[in-house]
Order: sequence, then C-alpha cells, then structure tokens
Amino acid sequence: MPTSTTLNQSLLCWFSEQQRDLPWRHTYEPYQVWISEIMLQQTQMDRVTVFFRRWMDAFPDLATLANSSEQSVLKSWEGLGYYSRARNILKCAKVLLKEHQGKIPASRKQLLALPGIGPYTAGAIASIAYNRDVPVVDANIERIFARLLNIDLIPGTPEAKKLFWKKAGELLPRGEARNFNQALMELGALVCRPKNPNCPICPVAEHCLALKYDIIQERPTAKKSKTVIPIDMATGILHHNGLLFIQQRLADDVWGSLWEFPGGRIKKNEQPEQTVIREFLEETELRVEVESKITTTIHHYTRYKVTLHCYLVKLAQSGNAPVLHAAQDFSWLPFEDLRNFAFPAGHRKLINFIKASGFNFHQPSCKPD
Ligand code: ADE
Repeated sequence: MPTSTTLNQSLLCWFSEQQRDLPWRHTYEPYQVWISEIMLQQTQMDRVTVFFRRWMDAFPDLATLANSSEQSVLKSWEGLGYYSRARNILKCAKVLLKEHQGKIPASRKQLLALPGIGPYTAGAIASIAYNRDVPVVDANIERIFARLLNIDLIPGTPEAKKLFWKKAGELLPRGEARNFNQALMELGALVCRPKNPNCPICPVAEHCLALKYDIIQERPTAKKSKTVIPIDMATGILHHNGLLFIQQRLADDVWGSLWEFPGGRIKKNEQPEQTVIREFLEETELRVEVESKITTTIHHYTRYKVTLHCYLVKLAQSGNAPVLHAAQDFSWLPFEDLRNFAFPAGHRKLINFIKASGFNFHQPSCKPD
C-alpha cells in the first residue's frame, strides 16, 4: 500500500510539470494572490485571468486600491458578479493600509479577521503567498478527497467539511504547502473534474479508492438537487430629451451601490407594463407611460432564473424632480455614458442588447426640469 508520502510526491511532481501559467504564479506577490483568490471564489479561471490583468492595470498595488473610489472598484468588477466581494476587497485594503502597514498578513488567524476572508481564502493566502503550512479545502478539493479516500458524505455538510479539513491537514507535506495546495486545485480543474474525470492521466490514480472500487461516478455523494426559482421582473428605460434615467441602488443589498433602471417584481395579476408604472411611482415618484416593449432577457443568478421584461417609457407629467425611495442617487445621461457605470448583469445584458440593435434615443437637448 503506497504511503501518503508517495501520494504527495506524485502530486507535487505532476504539478511542477503540468501547472498552468497563471499571472500571479510568476511572483506569488501576496496582493496578487489575494485578489486572484477572491476572484476565483465564484468565477471560472479563463474569465479571472482577463479580469485579473485588467485589475492590476487599474489597481497595481494595495495603496492605490485603498485610495480608490467604491465606484471605480465596482466598475472594474462589473461582469464578475457577487459584488460584495469587490466591496469587501476595498474595505479590506483600507484596513490593511491603516492597521497592517499596507501588508497582507501571513497568519491564518489575522487573515480570518479581515473583511471577505473566510477559512478557504485565509488558507489559500497563507499557503500560496507565504508557503505557510496551512491546509485549504474548496469544492474541488472536497471532490478529490471524496474520490481518493472514498468518503461517502455530502460535500458542504458540517460533518463532511470537518472531515475534509482534517484530511487536508493530515496530507499536507510540511514546507510544501504552496505547491501542494495548488496541486490539489490544479488536479481538480484539469483531471479530477466534476464530470468526466480523466482517470487514465491522473498522477494519483494508483491511490484512488473510488477508482479501485469503480465508483467514481458515485463520488462525491450527490447533493439533493436544488429547484430553480423563476422570478418575473419588469423594468423601464425612461427617456427624456435624449437622456436616460438611472438610479444608484442603496448600499446594503447584493447589488448595493450599483446603477440600474427602476423596476421590480411583477405582482400577481399584474401586467409587466403596470409593474413598470407602479415601480417608477413607488421608487421615484415619477409618473411614466409605457411607449413600447424593448426586449425580454433571461438571466440565471444562483438558484434564480430571472425573466426581465424591458420597456421604453416616457414621463406622463413633466416638471417633477424624482424623489428617491429605493436609491441613493440618480442621473440623466446619454446612452453612450452608461458604459461608465457599473450595472447588475441583467441590466448590462439589456444595455448590450440595445447597443447591438442600434436603438436610438433621439434628439439630445437639455436635462428635464
Ligand atoms: N482555484 C482557486 N484558487 C486557485 C489557484 N490559486 N490555482 C488554481 N486554481 C484555483
């Protein structure tokens, strides 16, 4: 029976030969490792490398980031989703500048005290940036351990988490955490994939109990499938004298501080056009009339499938200034300027649709009175 030393050696050897060339792997600079790990939490690698390079151009170091506006940070994050990550990055940068001499700590305990850093990210930064002997466990690593060690527990449950963290700590070869933890992540991404794992090329196949018992398809043990919740929403693009109305959401929700067109959920027995009129009145005290349908977009967000009906609307009564009830700020601006603001993905899809369709919000003149 091979010992875990040979398992580790096989894995480390494979990683040294097969690892992907990722931008933060050139220097393992802690600031870069931190940003990459936050981006990777809910986003695919290909997308992350593009955003990561852009981010480093905009915010090359921690001090630049800490002194940047929340709007510029949210704008750079636009397209990555889960915006609380971006807000926490900025909060964290400010704390690091003020309380840690602008340095990212190496200790897991200190890392865990920072905004937006949980056990996985603390382990990743401590090990990858500083090569500290700290384990990491994410969904990929859970899957590898479930197969390798034939663990019949549903990933994500407290019992499973406890066991996977314990195993990760036991297997970690001292002094090799940077490469070992990344080797596990890399194995999960390239070989021990959720579907169609490539067992014939796996460097640790000879240690894999699920492969030995021919139950790879049964590991990890399946979660109960979550039902998709449909949500129907309607939104209105209000135009006046060639300018469009947008509002900035309040700071304290998932899309906090992002910009949007007013709108909301369609109530029972309500037509989407009525929703738009009602939402404008409730959110801005503006009376609007629906002119035409623009499009319907569908956007998947976590467990939700959001169908968004979008209308072009005009003021039913001019001369009234908006009174905001669901937003912290508003702006009237030409269509081209929407690119400078951060929008939730559904609304950005809408903007892209309008751009691609060549829709014209005619005759710019002056702002509404
Ligand atoms: N997934 C999350 N973090 C990663 C990393 N540093 N390398 C590869 N895959 C990852």
